[in-house]
Amino acid sequence: MKLEAQFVSSALALADCPRWDCAEVALAGRSNVGKSSLLNALTGTRGLARTSKTPGRTRGLNFFAAGETLALVDLPGYGYAKMSHDEAAKLAALLRAYLENRRNLVALVMLVDARRGPQREELELAAMVRARGIELIVAATKCDKLRNSERAAAFERFTPLGLEPIMCSAKSGEKIDELRRRILARADARDGLDAEPGRGL
Ligand code: GTP
Ligand code: MG
Repeated sequence: MKLEAQFVSSALALADCPRWDCAEVALAGRSNVGKSSLLNALTGTRGLARTSKTPGRTRGLNFFAAGETLALVDLPGYGYAKMSHDEAAKLAALLRAYLENRRNLVALVMLVDARRGPQREELELAAMVRARGIELIVAATKCDKLRNSERAAAFERFTPLGLEPIMCSAKSGEKIDELRRRILARADARDGLDAEPGRGL
């Protein structure tokens, strides 16, 4: 099962997003949580999305086409303290605008560091996405850093909040198949997008 993708474009405003009928599955989460790394693991293409040890690497919305009907969107991270206040505010507004308004968005993969668990920002993100009726896929990332003895506790940081995480790792490849399957299942979810006027935003 493959999920190959190519970079299409980067958008700094909602108006610059591609005008197409693709169903979009976006990756969101705190800065440095591993969104770009996960996108590379899912597509099996190292270096497709730029990753970095330094938080704040991904600026803007980055679109990757995966065939005719599906696209992956690498979103800018939130919560990066060192970014200028102005830039952080702009990126946060762009992220919110995309999540609240983009018609093509059919599922959100919300990444949460498995060692940290969901915080207020993640609960807000989950609520926003659910309010729109968009599928929420919770990925607990960097599970390669957990000891076996820490796993159950890590999982239980999510479940009381109504979130069921896929415990995964871009590094070891753990559960990447399952995530890929969940995403590919959305490839035909664009039906209905076509019927709506004003698509593309
Ligand atoms: P921004 O674009 O800045 O928001 O970051 P991001 O969420 O795209 O994170 P990115 O993929 O750039 O990864 C950040 C750092 O975490 C890099 O040093 C990665 O190598 C590391 N990383 C990502 N995924 C994993 C993982 O599954 N396991 C481990 N151990 N490290 C990871
Ligand atoms: Mg990134």
